[in-house]
Amino acid sequence: MSRNAYIVGTGHHVPEHVVTNADMEKIVDTSDEWITTRTGIKERRKVEGSTASSDLVSVAVQNAMEMAGWKPSDVQGIIVGTVTPDYPFPSTAALVADRLKMGNIPAYDFEAGCTAFIYGLIQAKAFIESGIMDRMIVVGVDCLTKITNWDDRGSCILFGDGAGAVAVSSEGPGGRLGGWHWGSDGSLGEHLMQIGGGSKNPASHGTVDRNEHTIFMNGARIFKHAVRAMHDSCMKALEQDGTEKKDVDLLVSHQANLRIIDATARALELEPEQVYINIQKYGNTSAASIPIALDEAYRSDAIRETSTVVLAAFGAGLTWGGMILHW
Ligand code: COA
Repeated sequence: MSRNAYIVGTGHHVPEHVVTNADMEKIVDTSDEWITTRTGIKERRKVEGSTASSDLVSVAVQNAMEMAGWKPSDVQGIIVGTVTPDYPFPSTAALVADRLKMGNIPAYDFEAGCTAFIYGLIQAKAFIESGIMDRMIVVGVDCLTKITNWDDRGSCILFGDGAGAVAVSSEGPGGRLGGWHWGSDGSLGEHLMQIGGGSKNPASHGTVDRNEHTIFMNGARIFKHAVRAMHDSCMKALEQDGTEKKDVDLLVSHQANLRIIDATARALELEPEQVYINIQKYGNTSAASIPIALDEAYRSDAIRETSTVVLAAFGAGLTWGGMILHW
């Protein structure tokens, strides 16, 4: 009998500290009006002091395990999508597995920018359907405010911090992982990157002086790519799933810009109540944005027992991806 993979628990965690658009007006030459009309963002969350990705992940994972009814020893593997791990190594996944006493399970980080959570779900589907694992945790986390260029008004107003997690099992009931699509185009990678800190430009006084440990973004170029990538990802995932647009109940997409979400919703011919939006509260939380939105949608009953949900994202790489979930 063929095996399926189901989301049986969701959880998220965001830092308490709120940074409003009025706060941003004190940092760069901007306005609440500009940020709201161009992005849909009203406020975002920011970690303080030495709080790092693993701290947010630990709480998000505990929430997901609680919903799933799992003990830490039930988890057979944990994978964490992030571009802001606690350290280049060891992995944030291994740190969290240890902190939550999951035992000596496989634990690793991977990177696909803001698309990471969808890449993670596709990995989970492969691991579970092939029988490599029965129960695993997929996490998306980023603390982008730690690598934000606070002098660049074109990017610093966008980002916030957060973590989201799902428990994926070979046994339902839950949200079955269905059709998917994923891709990348490294020739466009230069439009969204952190130039310093890797093997090409290792950390040095020069990289710090040139602000190369922060995010460089060509916003207009990314915007153009994003609209097309989100549309393509949804359509290809739906086609692979054998589901038509009219059968979609809810879109839970990456929360990067309200105008990008609206364009995706229009392409899917969805009504406003069929689109889950929380960008106004959190800004762009990168790899965490979809699992945070998914958890909120699930706990607020926007997802019901028979919902068909479309996930779609794009991000650094450039990468993109989509997945269909059937509750
Ligand atoms: N406040 C006020 N003005 C700002 C501003 C800010 N925070 N940021 C940029 N501007 C100005 C620009 O300087 C420019 O002024 P000019 O015309 O005098 O040169 C003007 O606003 C328009 O800038 P532009 O970059 O064309 O705006 P936009 O409509 O493309 O919106 C983004 C900018 C960044 C909001 C938009 O491009 C975007 O969301 N891109 C995608 C980014 C993204 O999703 N990145 C993450 C990928 S996961």
